[in-house]
Amino acid sequence: APDGLARTPPMGWSSWNKFAEKIDDKTVRAMADALVATGLRDAGYVYVNIDDGWQGTRGPDGAIRPNEKFPDMKGLADYVHARGLKFGLYSAPGPRTCAGYEGSYGHVQQDAKTFADWGVDYLKYDLCSGEWFYDDADKVQRTYYEMGAALRATGRPIVYSLCEYGRFEVGAWGRKVGGHLWRTTGDITDDYATMARIGFDKNGRAEHAGPGGWNDPDMLEIGNGGMSHDEYATHMTLWAMLAAPLMMGHDLRQSSPEVLKMLENREVIAVDQDALGVQGKAVRRDGTTEVWTKPLADGAVAVALFNRGEAAATMTLLPSDAGKSGLTAVRDLWRGADLPAGSRDFQVPAHGVVMLRVTGGQG
Ligand code: GLA
Repeated sequence: APDGLARTPPMGWSSWNKFAEKIDDKTVRAMADALVATGLRDAGYVYVNIDDGWQGTRGPDGAIRPNEKFPDMKGLADYVHARGLKFGLYSAPGPRTCAGYEGSYGHVQQDAKTFADWGVDYLKYDLCSGEWFYDDADKVQRTYYEMGAALRATGRPIVYSLCEYGRFEVGAWGRKVGGHLWRTTGDITDDYATMARIGFDKNGRAEHAGPGGWNDPDMLEIGNGGMSHDEYATHMTLWAMLAAPLMMGHDLRQSSPEVLKMLENREVIAVDQDALGVQGKAVRRDGTTEVWTKPLADGAVAVALFNRGEAAATMTLLPSDAGKSGLTAVRDLWRGADLPAGSRDFQVPAHGVVMLRVTGGQG
């Protein structure tokens, strides 16, 4: 949407992957505090998003009210804002959300106004809705447009996240309905197979992504414990190469030093947040290995050497992969080390990655 929002992919935390419906005011406040205490906020993770499960019933005037776990939504938003963070909520176009809570059906303008009054900065709008299902492209587009227009009409800048699982080529029209990001698949889970299927193969079309509108391969699972360190490094690298939103989904109070180091790697984040806003892609595949590149605003290129196989592999960096005639500098972003410009062969662990930033002569 041409409103200046989400010029780079949104970064923050969302309640769903770890807490699902077991989320409450106290936990959200604790996450806001943890974002500050860990340094994650200063690394760029600013959204604090409550996903499904905050909704109660509607009042006599039809206004949505939070459930008993959220006694004061405006107070909670103020608490988040006071820490230099932004506040996000979740709703659905149908009468019910995916987890069966009250949706916005019949109350779209009223809910947009309520959200803006509470101080909401981000809305995830999720197409599931119990007995109701949107089964054609036209209906889906119209329903997303309706909330997009209602959010705009509030006058408050609100990032609008479309969650309809990549159906009906959402990337081709997501911006037109006011969206800033749109999911490309069903839900991620905390295992390598699911993460890799989404990240490598179900990540949306690169030509749809750019400043103001992003493919969303779903939220991060880093820190939830279901993958190895190398697998989480692949997760983070893929999302950065894809210019994907970086929404953490673990209990921030229990971030190990290793997890924090991964999530706060400034050079990896800079690839995700690069001003050019190009979604990277595979340029070479060979068996279970894939070489990906992402051009960066300063003329450098991010290169990821991914090994999807079950055994360590030797992978070769070719200047031509990065569109260069020769390389003048090679930096290993996970090791934080400059390498000799002629570096060619890399040992890549099973399910792991080597992530590089290279500069060189024009190809
Ligand atoms: C869907 C979405 C998830 C989450 C749940 C909440 O499954 O894809 O990301 O929002 O609904 O019920």
